[in-house]
Amino acid sequence: MNNVYEISPQIYWVGGNDRRIERFENMFPLPNGVAYNSYLITDEKTALLDTVDASISGLYLENITHVLGNRSLDYLVINHMEPDHCANIEEIVRRYPDVKVIGNKKTFQFFKQYYSLDISSNCLEVKDQEEISLGKHTLRFYMAPMVHWPEVMMTYEISKGILFSADAFGSFGAISGNLFADEVEYDSYFLDEARRYYTNIVGRFGRQVQAVLKKFADLPINMICSLHGLIWRGDKISYILEKYDKWSSYQPEKKGVVLAYGSMYGNTENVVNALAIKLAKKGIKDIRVYDVSKTHPSYIISDIFKYSNVVLASSTYNLQIYFPMDALLKELAVLNVSNRKVSLIGNHTWASAALKGMTEIVNSMDNFEIVGTPIDIKSTLRDEMVLDELAEAIYQSL
Ligand code: FEO
Repeated sequence: MNNVYEISPQIYWVGGNDRRIERFENMFPLPNGVAYNSYLITDEKTALLDTVDASISGLYLENITHVLGNRSLDYLVINHMEPDHCANIEEIVRRYPDVKVIGNKKTFQFFKQYYSLDISSNCLEVKDQEEISLGKHTLRFYMAPMVHWPEVMMTYEISKGILFSADAFGSFGAISGNLFADEVEYDSYFLDEARRYYTNIVGRFGRQVQAVLKKFADLPINMICSLHGLIWRGDKISYILEKYDKWSSYQPEKKGVVLAYGSMYGNTENVVNALAIKLAKKGIKDIRVYDVSKTHPSYIISDIFKYSNVVLASSTYNLQIYFPMDALLKELAVLNVSNRKVSLIGNHTWASAALKGMTEIVNSMDNFEIVGTPIDIKSTLRDEMVLDELAEAIYQSL
């Protein structure tokens, strides 16, 4: 059965959810599934904005047939050429052979790399800010390179002020009936997953996101339609724009401390738990403790984007940083995380390596300020005073 929603006169959401999927990009856990959004405009001309993942093709094609009825499809806009949105392009072209497929030079280059159907006679290449009229609605295309792929563009519908934003402003998590962010308690329901999505998928490209935010600063935007997650409208638009401004400029949202540890036998873990209690006794409320061997790094990274301070504690393993901690640090570096206050704790039994390794990586990162004196434990911590001093240094730095 079709499942569509008219989000504005003549503009329909024709997407769907996948709640069975375990991991996004086969990497990031999806405990609440994910939504693949696509939008269909039925003006004098018809235009479909992006397609969806192969996992929901059946419902998706039924949705389109339902909305179009006997009409043909005039345009298919490809804002993003990643397969979770492109799996149905070939089928759409087969069903509507006269459709004009709108993209840019890189869009069509990537299409040829992924798919084999010859769509050269369908391709309509557009440049930045080029417009196409559908009747009452007019689409204007904005290039948004590296948010988070090079071919990404966004489509702005002028008459209604609707921005079809590709992956930007999206989220992990399936949609449960309510399509709009203002219809749910977003902070408790979606925000953590929106942050985890942004920080892990787009986080590296803060500079490019800032460029896009500036590009749209003077445009009247009444609705933002992402390819994942809920639709933004009304007051919620400034809410998500402010979040994106913070995340993409690597500024913390809140004062708080994320403590991540890698511990084989519980000794490093014990020190971190003791430090967390000392911080709590000083009145710090936002404290998050994570075992890097247990919690997927995407959650830890998301909280490191959220909070001002980080404590990294790692055993030495084979004369290296404990491997899951090493992976977390490398991901943080790749994602260009900056402007954080970091405290370091190493542990070793006969040869110290973790603290040195962590210090080198942290020193290579932008605006990472080391707070307190790094502690290098020999198996277990005997001198509680050094932990008191570190807790005080973290408290004073907040
Ligand atoms: Fe949802 Fe970058 O694909």
